[in-house]
Amino acid sequence: MTATHGVTEDDLRRWVRLAGRAPSAHNTQPWSVRVVDGRIEVGVVPGRMLCAGDPSSRDLLLALGAWVESAVVVAAADGVGLDVTPTPVLDRLDDLPVRGPADPAHAVLVLRPTASPAATPFTPADVRERRVNRGPLLPAPDLRAGAPELPAWLRMLQVDDPAMRRLVRLGTAWTASRPAVAAELVRWLRLSPAHPRYTRDGMTDRMLQLPAWAARVAAPLTRRPALHDAALRVAGLVGRAVEAVDRTRPLPPPPAPGAPLDGPQHLVLVAQTRGVHSATETLDARLGLPPADVVEAGRALQRTWLHAHRAGLAVAPHSEVVDSPHAVAALRRRLGLRRSQVALAVFSVGRPTVPAPVSPRLTDETA
Ligand SMILES: Cc1cc2nc3c(=O)[nH]c(=O)nc-3n(C[C@H](O)[C@H](O)[C@H](O)COP(=O)(O)O)c2cc1C
Repeated sequence: MTATHGVTEDDLRRWVRLAGRAPSAHNTQPWSVRVVDGRIEVGVVPGRMLCAGDPSSRDLLLALGAWVESAVVVAAADGVGLDVTPTPVLDRLDDLPVRGPADPAHAVLVLRPTASPAATPFTPADVRERRVNRGPLLPAPDLRAGAPELPAWLRMLQVDDPAMRRLVRLGTAWTASRPAVAAELVRWLRLSPAHPRYTRDGMTDRMLQLPAWAARVAAPLTRRPALHDAALRVAGLVGRAVEAVDRTRPLPPPPAPGAPLDGPQHLVLVAQTRGVHSATETLDARLGLPPADVVEAGRALQRTWLHAHRAGLAVAPHSEVVDSPHAVAALRRRLGLRRSQVALAVFSVGRPTVPAPVSPRLTDETA
């Protein structure tokens, strides 16, 4: 069937399949996408939301933004634009149930083909081949030089390595010591090819670059309830001990200004709330930002990650730093953020030392 601007529904389905390579926290792929009457409707799958780890839906909205940006890049290669409209449902994510499939009547975003393709330097191959890399990263030039420009209300700030090490430890301790958050993470681990969802979603032993022995030891912990509960209890004890020590210590002193990096660069995506939105809008939103803006920030984040991929650099996200109240408070102090600024994402970037393994996708099965 022919749709708007000569775009067939097969084209739309092809774009949707490739956009499915977009990144999402824990590789939940929380989007549910339908092609209807020449447009693309994006919904949210309640059972793929991280209720414990992402209560503000920050990572969900960033992932939706990354999905949209990926679709826009793929459509642009066919000479087509995509007009993106948020629906009122996007502002009411808290009304969604905590489990189950997406409701087809409740799309959060609608994408309609237009005659003007986005001016993007990226290609469908970039969308397909971009990957997170959790291996060791070597120093690289500042990623921000030559990166696509950010909207005026977003900034990419750098945090120094000594601070980042402490913040990652605080964030990891927070994840480990909140049983619901840790259990949710474990639910998305697929540490052995015997896992029934190994090729579909979640994080595999290969993606996490676990040594074979570690995956063999840990895989049963994710599958056998008694072992799982015991492992979470131990992780909780260790996490609480680390948190108790680290939260009261000041961050280590920063390196001398201008000192060259001896490891990866650590970047923080920061959004400015005041002045851009009305006070009511921002107060209504849990993150202090309207959800549509967080989707927009997710688009900018994906452009930055695609730029890193193009530059031969690897990205390793560290959301635990913005999840943990202790870590995010210390981060805010280190960066000198104002109350009106929100840290949305933290990631390291550098020259990879090992190739990044491919992560599974639900949509790859039909590709
Ligand atoms: C908003 C967001 C937050 C993420 N947070 C983390 C994180 O804290 N730690 C991590 O290792 N990966 C994180 N990721 C990366 C995902 O785990 C990754 O995108 C997913 O597993 C798919 O792998 P791929 O990006 O290599 O295709 C995040 C991704 C997004 C979009």
